[in-house]
Amino acid sequence: MAVADGTITFSPALNSFINEWKEKPGNLIMVLHKVQEEFGYIPREAADKVAGMLEVPLAKIYGVITFYHFFKLEKPGKYNIQVCLGTACYLKGGSNLVDELEGLLGISINEVTKDGKFSIEGVRCVGCCGLAPVLVIGEEVHGKVTKDQLPGIIASYT
Ligand code: FES
Repeated sequence: MAVADGTITFSPALNSFINEWKEKPGNLIMVLHKVQEEFGYIPREAADKVAGMLEVPLAKIYGVITFYHFFKLEKPGKYNIQVCLGTACYLKGGSNLVDELEGLLGISINEVTKDGKFSIEGVRCVGCCGLAPVLVIGEEVHGKVTKDQLPGIIASYT
């Protein structure tokens, strides 16, 4: 999975997935999902490699990546803080959590801290509305989060 001097290595699983989907319609989105699953974003070198493997123009790949907000072109922080902005969380102050996190981390939503540790992302309903407002960091779900808890939550990841 190394990204160095313009070359990139895909895992055997990713390579075989791409080969399996190569001839199927709608393959580009499936393949880009898998690439993002492997790297956490779509590195430029990966987009190049996918273009070669699927024999599609690079411009088409970037067209898809930029059309679907799901795809990321920048590497997220080591801890990507996903703030749920679905209806239930929004009504319980999800966007205030974004404001507070931006202040605490000194970055805006969709940015990464200089040390690469944290990024903030707004996401749709993550399926635990009873715990609104919700943050997801890695595999951990933080429910009923208040602004006052945020410094402690951030500190627990440093
Ligand atoms: S709206 Fe946030 S978990 Fe459903």
